[in-house]
This record gives sequence, C-alpha cells and structure tokens, in this order.
Amino acid sequence: MKKNIAVLPGDGIGPEVAKGAVEILGAIGERYGHKFTFRYGQIGGSAIDRHGNPLPDETLALCRQSDAILLGAVGGPKWDQNPPEYRPEQGLLKIRKELNLYANMRPINYYASLLESSPLKKEIIEETDFLIVRELTGGLYFGKPSERTYRDGMEAAVDTLYYEREEVKRIMKLAFELASTRNQKVTSVDKANVLESSRMWREVAEEVAKDYPEVTLEHMLVDNAAMQLIKNPRQFDTIVTENMFGDILSDEASVLTGSLGMLPSASLSESGLHLYEPIHGSAPDIAGRNKANPIAMILSSASMLRHSFGLEEEADTVEQAVRSILDSGRRTADLAGSGIPYSTSEMVEAIKEEILQKDAIVHI
Ligand code: NAD
Ligand code: IPM
Ligand code: MN
Repeated sequence: MKKNIAVLPGDGIGPEVAKGAVEILGAIGERYGHKFTFRYGQIGGSAIDRHGNPLPDETLALCRQSDAILLGAVGGPKWDQNPPEYRPEQGLLKIRKELNLYANMRPINYYASLLESSPLKKEIIEETDFLIVRELTGGLYFGKPSERTYRDGMEAAVDTLYYEREEVKRIMKLAFELASTRNQKVTSVDKANVLESSRMWREVAEEVAKDYPEVTLEHMLVDNAAMQLIKNPRQFDTIVTENMFGDILSDEASVLTGSLGMLPSASLSESGLHLYEPIHGSAPDIAGRNKANPIAMILSSASMLRHSFGLEEEADTVEQAVRSILDSGRRTADLAGSGIPYSTSEMVEAIKEEILQKDAIVHI
C-alpha cells in the first residue's frame, strides 16, 4: 500500500514525538511492505515565526493533498502574548474547522503494567475502557462573538457557546454508532441545569437514541462527570460531549492511564481526510530535552493505520509493541517513578525493535 502522510510537528515536544511516530510508521512500512511518504508542513508558533501565520495556506494545501495528517502539538510561552489571531492555538482551531474535523475520539484504556503509575488506586482503574467523543468544531471555541468589549463604559469580555441542532445531531449519531460496536452505553455529558445549549444537546441525544434501541443513554452533568471519572471510571463506555467539556475531561481521564503522554486521539471528518494528534500539548517544561513520552503520538499513528488506511493488523502490531515495552518495565520520565527513565528516542527505538523482530518480517 502507498500512502501520503502530512506531518505537522508544531512546537515544543511536538517535533520530538512526531519524529518518533514517523520512525514507527517507517518500521511498519518495512515489516509489511507499505510505502509511506511523509511530507512536512508548518503549524503553530513555528509557522508564525517563518510565515507570520499559524496555519499557512501551503500547510492546508499539503493536508488536502494527503491521505492522512499527523500533528504533534502547538503553543509555547514565546507566543503567549501575541494578539489572538497570531497565537499558535489559532492554527490548530483553524485546521480543525477548515478540514471539518468535527469528531475527536479520545480512547482511555488501562495498562496493566502501569497500574502502579497512577496516583489513583489500582482497584479503581483496573479494566477501565471508555471512549470520549469530543465535538471539535463548534461550541464555546468557535461561537461568535468572542472578543474584548465595553459595556456601560466597563471593560468586559465575551465568548459564545453556540451550537446548531444539526451539529449536535452529527456528533450524537457518531457516538451512538460507536457505542453500538462497543458496550452499548452512551453517557451524554452536559450542563443542562444551567445552559440552553445543553438543554438542546439533551433533546437531540434523546431523539437520536430512538434509532438505537440496543444502546442505553444516560445524561450526566459535567461537574458530576468530572468526579465520577476518577471515582468509578468503569461505569463509562462512550462519553459524548461539547468541545470544551471534552477537552477538560480527557486531560483528567489521562490520569487513569498514568500520564497525559499516553493518550492518543483521532480527529475525524466527513470527507475521509482525518487528523491524528496526541491529546497533550507542547509541554514547554520538558521541550528540547528528549524527555517526552512519545507513546500518545505513536498510538495516534496506530489509529491512523486503522481508521484512515484500514490496516488493522499493522495498528494492532504497534499497540502490541507499546504494551510489550511497557510490560518489560521500560518507561519515559513521566512514568518512571524512582526508576531510571528512558529518553524519548530510546523509547521509540525500543518500540521500533519490537515491531521489527527479525522473525516477524513478512516479505511481500
Ligand atoms: P501540556 O499538555 O503541554 O502539558 C501539561 C503537563 O503534562 C506538563 O507538565 C507536561 O510536561 C506534561 N506532558 C504533556 N505531554 C507529555 C508527554 N508526551 N510526555 C511527558 N509529559 C508530558 O499542557 P500545558 O502545559 O497546559 O500547555 C502548554 C502549551 O501547549 C500551551 O501553549 C497550550 O496552548 C498548548 N497545547 C497544545 C495542544 C495541542 O497542540 N493539541 C494541547 C494542549 C495544550
Ligand atoms: C487539545 C488542546 C487544544 C484544545 C488547544 C491547544 C486549542 O488543548 O487539543 O486538547 O483545547 O482543543
Ligand atoms: Mn486539551
């Protein structure tokens, strides 16, 4: 199989982990006889520095000519004081909107060998396996107005939580579709006791649920959901929620796996051009030190193999290699505790060797 992959490394640890994912995909190509071509584009702060734009047209064009997109992370203190449209994060929001990447899948699985790495009790996290379906192109991040303003001579600021019914329906349907292939339970998370947008969200959830009689629907208020996630995570199967609620809950949920550096994501569009990105950011506190955990990015590339290219076995191989390396006790600093940590590149190398075990090479 031949595929063109757009790689947007971004800022901070973005380039470090993206390099790792490219190496892993290279190893998969070698083992299974696929030709992956990687073409690089700028996004975020590095794109501001070089092109004065957090998402240059060339980057968008590159993405549109590719079969799938891998994105590292954007942002950093260097650009934090920039005017809003010249912030790295704008590049990320814009690519999501331009490519209509409306659904962000954030799976949360427990790893037996990492049970001791979480600050939470092992009895709580054992057997955790749920999926957060985060709406990604609407809600509070995109509603207008979003600006600094003056009212009655007083400085004020406004952001708008706006959803069209059809946008909610689209993400809700996807959540029910996915739940029907999983444990057949949807937890729709909202703030319907306060927000009108959440009341519409709930109505739509009820309406869509009628088409999926085999799937159980439950509603949960977001504050309670934040608590339930760490009190009893096993109760969840498929969580569907508004853009910002999903952002916050998924970082919280990463603690169940032991580190934010473990959680991958897939941002899906209707067109079939999807983007794969870890849920973490550019981690300025550890950037440039070869310390970051590359697994979230590597698992995102596994998700790309599965969802964009239909390469189920290859995706399984990557995920299995990650599990074996963790089982063997190898860890980056975020998970190493008092043990000696592996660097980013050592971790990538270990996973790569696991994939390329000589006897496993298939010549096609
Ligand atoms: P962050 O996710 O970058 O980091 C939070 C904490 O987790 C830090 O202590 C960091 O060291 C750690 N961490 C994150 N990823 C890690 C990894 N792979 N391995 C080991 N440790 C890891 O969040 P932040 O510090 O709040 O934000 C930093 C910058 O990243 C900001 O500019 C923010 O806007 C941006 N950001 C970007 C994305 C994205 O590109 N998708 C996501 C979140 C934040
Ligand atoms: C994420 C990030 C982004 C978001 C930021 C950087 C815009 O936190 O991908 O989770 O909030 O969506
Ligand atoms: Mn986030």
